[in-house]
Formats: sequence, structure tokens, C-alpha cells
Amino acid sequence: MDNELCKTLNLRFPLIQAPMAGVSTPELAAAVSNAGALGSIGVGASTPQQAEAMIRQSLALTSGPLNVNVFCHAPAQRDAQRESAWIARFDERFRRFDAAPPAELSEIYQTFCGNDAMLEVLLATRPAAVSFHFGLPSADFIRRLKSQGIVTLATATSPEEAQVIEAAGIDFIVAQGIEAGGHRGIFNPRAEDRALSTFTLVQAIRQVSRLPVIAAGGVMDGAGIAAMMTLGVTGVQLGTAFVLCPESAANAAYRQLMKSAQSASTVMTAAISGRPARCITNDFCRMMQDVPVQAIPDYPLTYALGKALAGAASAKGDHGYGAQWAGQGAPLARELPAAELVNALVAEWQAAEDLTMG
Ligand SMILES: Cc1cc2nc3c(=O)[nH]c(=O)nc-3n(C[C@H](O)[C@H](O)[C@H](O)COP(=O)(O)O)c2cc1C
Repeated sequence: MDNELCKTLNLRFPLIQAPMAGVSTPELAAAVSNAGALGSIGVGASTPQQAEAMIRQSLALTSGPLNVNVFCHAPAQRDAQRESAWIARFDERFRRFDAAPPAELSEIYQTFCGNDAMLEVLLATRPAAVSFHFGLPSADFIRRLKSQGIVTLATATSPEEAQVIEAAGIDFIVAQGIEAGGHRGIFNPRAEDRALSTFTLVQAIRQVSRLPVIAAGGVMDGAGIAAMMTLGVTGVQLGTAFVLCPESAANAAYRQLMKSAQSASTVMTAAISGRPARCITNDFCRMMQDVPVQAIPDYPLTYALGKALAGAASAKGDHGYGAQWAGQGAPLARELPAAELVNALVAEWQAAEDLTMG
């Protein structure tokens, strides 16, 4: 296929299974890569040791290309008053589950920025691609990855972020629309967010950047892929569509919710992790709907409490507090093995192209 993404990464199809920290697995990524698309794992929530194990496990399961995704957020700004007020806000809710809130919030994940140990893991394991979310690492990190022949991708949620990505010498822009499930890749979560749809964002980025664009957000079937390709993107990245694959790490409660009528309602909230992310509207989201963003501690401090609350609730059989990320297309997700899903997407895409060609 004469397509830039396919040529660069030796793919049969210009489709990417989105990296999904906590949900994507080596088995999922390998199944997708073996089917001719690009499989991804997310190591944003992993230590360098855990990341190395996941990467090596993935590479043992496929000889195809692998994308490894890291988080490039600015380190959390501590604010003792805001943090203690946040903890106090949840006291009653923890008590309901016979538990107590954490005494303090902690940075449960380290950013990739300045994380030499994680860089060494990537340089030693050499996945075909590395993608950045929440911003970019230093010019030195980017140069060292590229010098190993690693292809780089970065998420943009606005044309301005796309320009920063191009200036940094990244190879591909992942244009993430507001429909997308999971964390929004916005560089500065406290800046204004114009919340552009994937459709508008792709066009806006193509106006200001010559880099090849990958569309992410709201694409659930082959007709959706065809529509995005018509806008001139080089590929499409799908996350929510892969959550129900048996190879994903989504737990039983999350899967049940995805398959229920409730999945038609999703909401963007920063209250679970400290950064805006699209989640199925569960009890946690409802509890947080009127909380002002200024009250929310920085990412990932907030996530330390979010995870503790989800754990306390599920220990009592209540699964309404998890990070049940999903995009607006959640009701359209199919429960198929990943390779079958890739084949179905490609067949539908082909059928949609044939229709438009008459
Ligand atoms: C469960 C879930 C977890 C996600 N985790 C990550 C992640 O770790 N890194 C990342 O770059 N994007 C992550 N995303 C966002 C995806 O990369 C992508 O932008 C999004 O899935 C596209 O929209 P869609 O869900 O409508 O397909 C996640 C998405 C979901 C649904």
C-alpha cells in the first residue's frame, strides 16, 4: 500500500490500536501487529522495569512492529491546601465502603520527561515506534530515540500543539478529537481547551502542518475509517473499539458497563486522575460533576485518591468508581478477538470505498 504510515512502519493496513495504559496488553498489541496493523502498549503508568517486561513480552509474541507509548506531563505542582481539601471531600464516600481516604496524595507515576531509566529501556529494546502523550520530551530524548531508527508519534489536541510537534522533529501527529476515550493528550490541562472534534481538528492541523496526520477519536468501524482517510490522514488510531477484545486487560465490571446501555453516556472529567479524560458516566463522574477544576489537584496526585476510592468500592462489590475510560463511540464497540476486529474494520473500509467509488 502506497501510504506513508504503512511504508514507514511496514504495515499492511494504516490502522493503529491505541496505546491504553492499564487496558492494552502485550497479547492485544501482538495480535493487532500480527494482523497487519500497528499494535501498541502504554507504559505511562509503569516503572522502567515493568515497561521492559511488557515490551519484551510483546516482542516475543510478534515479529511485526510495536508502538510503545509514554506520558510526557509536567511534574505535579504541589498545593498542600488544595490536596488536603480534596482528601477531605471524599471522607464520607470512603467511610461508606468501610475505608479511610489516603493521608496524603502522591505522584504515583513518573513522567517520561527526564526519565533516563525509561529512555534506556526504549533504547535497549528498540520498538519500531514510540508515541508521546500529554506533551513532548526534551530535544535530546527525541534525538536519541530517532538515532536508533525509532519512529516517533505525538498526540495533538489543537493546531498549536501540532505545530510544536512538527518543530520538534516528530514523524507523525496523532490528532485526538474531543470524542476520544481515555486521557486527553492536551499539553497544558489548565490552559483553555477548544475541545475540537476529530473531524475539525484533522482539517485544522492539515492547514498548519506538513506532517502526516493520524486521526484518533470516535472511529468505530470501516466507514468511519473511510471518512477520515477522505480528509487526507495517513492513518487512523482506535482505542475504544479494542476495549472489549478478549486480549485487553479490561476487567469484568468494565466490560459489563461497556456492553450496557450506560455506555452511551460518557463525560470528560479531570476529577478521577487530575487530567481531563473521557469516562463512561459512572457514580464517580456523577459525584464530581459540579466540582470546579481549580479544586482538583494536579495529575497524577488526584489519581492516587481515585484509585484508592475505586479499590475501596470494588472491595465492597461496588464498581461505580473505576477509571472506566471510553469514547463517545462506546456503544459501537464489538466483542471480537483483536485480529478478527482488524479484519472486519478493513473489510468494512473496503466496502465503504467501493460504495463511494460507485
Ligand atoms: C481505555 C483507554 C485508555 C487510553 N490510554 C491511553 C494511553 O495510555 N496513552 C495514549 O496516548 N492514549 C490513550 N488513550 C487515548 C487513545 O490513544 C486514543 O486517542 C483514543 O482511544 C481514540 O478515541 P476512541 O477511543 O474514540 O477510539 C486511551 C483511550 C482509552 C479508550
